[in-house]
Order: sequence, then structure tokens, then C-alpha cells
Amino acid sequence: MLESHKKLERNSIWLLIFTVVAVSIGGLVEIVPLFRMQTTIEPVKGMRPLTPLELAGQDIYIREGCNTCHSQQIRPLRDEVQRYGHYSLAAESMYDHPFVWGSERTGPDLARVGGKYSNTWHLEHLKDPRAVVPESIMPRYSFLASRQVRTWDAGDKMKALAAVGVPYTKDHISNAALDLQIQTMPDEDPTGLQERYGAKVVPQDFGSGDPGAPTEADALIAYLQQLGTHVDFTTYDPDYELKQQPEKERAK
Ligand code: HEC
Repeated sequence: MLESHKKLERNSIWLLIFTVVAVSIGGLVEIVPLFRMQTTIEPVKGMRPLTPLELAGQDIYIREGCNTCHSQQIRPLRDEVQRYGHYSLAAESMYDHPFVWGSERTGPDLARVGGKYSNTWHLEHLKDPRAVVPESIMPRYSFLASRQVRTWDAGDKMKALAAVGVPYTKDHISNAALDLQIQTMPDEDPTGLQERYGAKVVPQDFGSGDPGAPTEADALIAYLQQLGTHVDFTTYDPDYELKQQPEKERAK
């Protein structure tokens, strides 16, 4: 073995060829599963792509760098699960482009912040974090409440996301600007919006804009309020993968 290795090390061409072979094997092992997303991500019920308003909110989240202070990934460690709730599943961020997992927690994890506070709380907190959490060191984002959300590019954003695999249909895309407004109009008929995004999406007043004319704060709050709320953990089976294997292997 050592003898033949010596030969390899002394012949630059063979060394190069074998290096390329070794590196390609390593590469394939990492890359191939990415092309088979459907089989590598465990199936969970309830995941849906973001509504146009939430999508606008996600863009503001990224633009303002919220992900530099907040993570969106609950690790399967006891203290994290007790503090934040069920650990994050791969499927929960499968429609995120780019991922906003974050790597720093100056503030708490936000993966399951949806439904934890009211819209009013979020608005007050964004305008002045110290008004609701006196010891907070989070910056103020009061300007978001006086800036209108752009509606004209909502469909284009979704078209781009559809190209990379997010299941937005022509129906989603052509109704994007309208759906964005309807989500802030509790008095309008939500049938179309709910047909496309599910009955859990309820049009409401997010706090700062007028109905049909949401502000950036509204979009951001809509985004925050849906975080971690899609998966129904009463039907989620963490042992799904395990049960797919034959009895004998499972015993190991
Ligand atoms: C400089 C770091 C920093 C940045 C940037 C930041 N935050 Fe925070 N955030 C914090 C800290 C610290 C807390 C904990 C104290 C508090 O609740 O204000 C917090 C708390 C929160 C909470 C409450 C979480 C909970 O479970 O109680 C939300 C929601 C939140 N931030 C959203 C945002 C959003 C949205 C942005 C971007 C617009 C943002 N934060 C930007 C530091 C930051």
C-alpha cells in the first residue's frame, strides 16, 4: 500500500488525477442530496409560501439587518426547546430565498415568534423597543410606520422565487399586488387570498397604515406574525423517518 502510494506521490500527473477523483467523491456526497430536496426534507403538513405582504416584510427584515441580531433556527437542545418551542424543521425554511437563519443572538430567536404578541405590541416595539421592554438594546425602527410598501413589484418578486422552486403559480403572481392590499383590508372578501394561501391568512389591521395602503411596519409585522405558525405539531411525527426503515435496522 505504502509502496504504491509512493509511486503516486512521485508522479505529479497521477497525483493530480487521483486528487481530482477523491475531491469529486466528496463533492458528490455533499451536492447530490441538494438535487433531491424532496427526499432529504422530511414531509410536514401546513407549509405554504409567504403571501405578497409577508414577502415584502421579509425583504424589509433583510434590508434592515434584523438577521444580524436575531436567529431563526431553534436547535434541538433542551434549553432552546424549553425557551422557544419545538426545534426548527428543515421544511420550515424550504421556501426562504435567501435563508435568514442568522448566526448571532443579540436578541432572542424569532423562529416561533408568530402569535406570541399582538400586532399593537409589535408596532410599539418597532417604534421604540424601550417603550415595552425597558432594558432593551434593540434599535428604533419608527420610520417603518411612515413608509408605504411598494406593491408594483410584488408579482415580479414571486416570479423570481417561482424560478428557483417556490410553488407560486400564475394565479398567485397575477394577483400579487391585489392580495398584498387585501391582507390589510378586514372588510373586504378574503376568498381569493385564502384560496391561494390558506384559511389561516386572515386580513387584519396591522396597526399603522390605512386599509389597502400598508406601511413597511405593517408588512414586517405580517411577516413576524406568521413565523413558526405553519406546521401543525399535533400531526407532526418526528419518528417518520425511522418508521420508514425495516424493523431490523431500527433495532440498531
Ligand atoms: C442590535 C441588535 C438588534 C437588531 C438589529 C434588531 N433587534 Fe430585535 N431585539 C434585540 C434585543 C436585544 C431584543 C430583546 C429585548 C426586546 O424585546 O426588545 C430584541 C427583541 C425583539 C423581538 C421580541 C422577541 C421576543 O420573543 O420577545 C422582536 C419581535 C424583534 N426583536 C424584532 C426585530 C426586528 C423585526 C428587527 C429588524 C427590523 C430587529 N428586531 C432588529 C436586538 C436587536
